[in-house]
Amino acid sequence: MKLAERVTICEVGPRDGFQIEPGFIPTEQKIEAIDLLSAAGLLRIEATSFVHPKAVPQLRDAEQVMAKIRRRPGTRYAALVPNDKGAVRAVDAGVDEIHTVVSASESHNLANVNMTVAESIEKLRAVMQVAARARVAVACGISTSFGCPFEGEVPLARLESVVARLVDIGAPAIGLADTTGMANPRQVASVLEHLMPRFPGIEWTLHTHDTRAMAIPNILAAMECGVTHVDASIGGLGGCPFAPGASGNVCTEDLVHCLHAMGVATGIDLEALLAASRRVQEIVGRPLPGQIVKAGKSDRRYPLPDGVAARLPRPG
Ligand code: COA
Ligand code: ZN
Repeated sequence: MKLAERVTICEVGPRDGFQIEPGFIPTEQKIEAIDLLSAAGLLRIEATSFVHPKAVPQLRDAEQVMAKIRRRPGTRYAALVPNDKGAVRAVDAGVDEIHTVVSASESHNLANVNMTVAESIEKLRAVMQVAARARVAVACGISTSFGCPFEGEVPLARLESVVARLVDIGAPAIGLADTTGMANPRQVASVLEHLMPRFPGIEWTLHTHDTRAMAIPNILAAMECGVTHVDASIGGLGGCPFAPGASGNVCTEDLVHCLHAMGVATGIDLEALLAASRRVQEIVGRPLPGQIVKAGKSDRRYPLPDGVAARLPRPG
């Protein structure tokens, strides 16, 4: 396999995950989780979103979260915003990076942000201006890039036109999001092989949901195309409140375990990440989908069953 030596993971659990938890997670516990993720060495963390508090009440404490997290030098703290009002709030709260959201499909965009795609792009143009004035970096995510839970297949020409409009308003980075886990690895590769040469200089991110157990295969397909930025969520938290059937993102610690096993560096301390995942499970009060927390790492060894040791053939 042709794999990069290093992959940068953006941890999105505090946003994509906490936004869909049935109960409101106390602000102090959100901050504790983010601080544990920072300490584990994550270089990028999507800490919250600046959206309408009625749309996503779980993240209504965005300002307090940003104000109280411990900023680890070298880590970039981002927040999701849908419009310029969100961008102003995010800048005032001191984010290092703004992540914008628009969908490739009209239905999901209307369900998610109550705008047509064209209306969203106009709002994002204003977001780019707010960010430029504040000298804050921007990355633009595209929901339902590989399929929409309402419309089904999203034609590649449709996705390409959204990418083109984002590049046109100055997006330096684009995240392709598989909002409800509809993508398969061959599709991910063909979409990236089509888009990457057409938009040179763009930093591409793959944002996956493991709804149908294809998240890690999809990431490997993207890595073979040269993608080195991926989103992941601690424990496999995550889902979109406005996309029926959405479930958790690819699990950060499972992905890190897989990458390290293949010799791909992430800069993340897996043991610290596993400890963070256990704490997040306590915070949300239920077991999460992550596998490595349960199975242990692949170097885990068990004692031999009774009688086996004595019967092992002697080496040589
Ligand atoms: N933060 C806080 N308030 C906001 C806001 C933001 N980012 N954007 C708009 N508002 C306020 C406006 O100021 C206005 O307030 P007012 O009634 O007191 O004047 C009110 O919301 C309505 O503004 P409008 O632009 O008409 O918004 P809307 O009701 O059409 O909602 C969104 C649009 C985008 C704000 C809303 O759908 C939203 O927040 N969606 C978030 C979806 C999301 O996070 N999905 C999961 C992640 S993919
Ligand atoms: Zn998502």
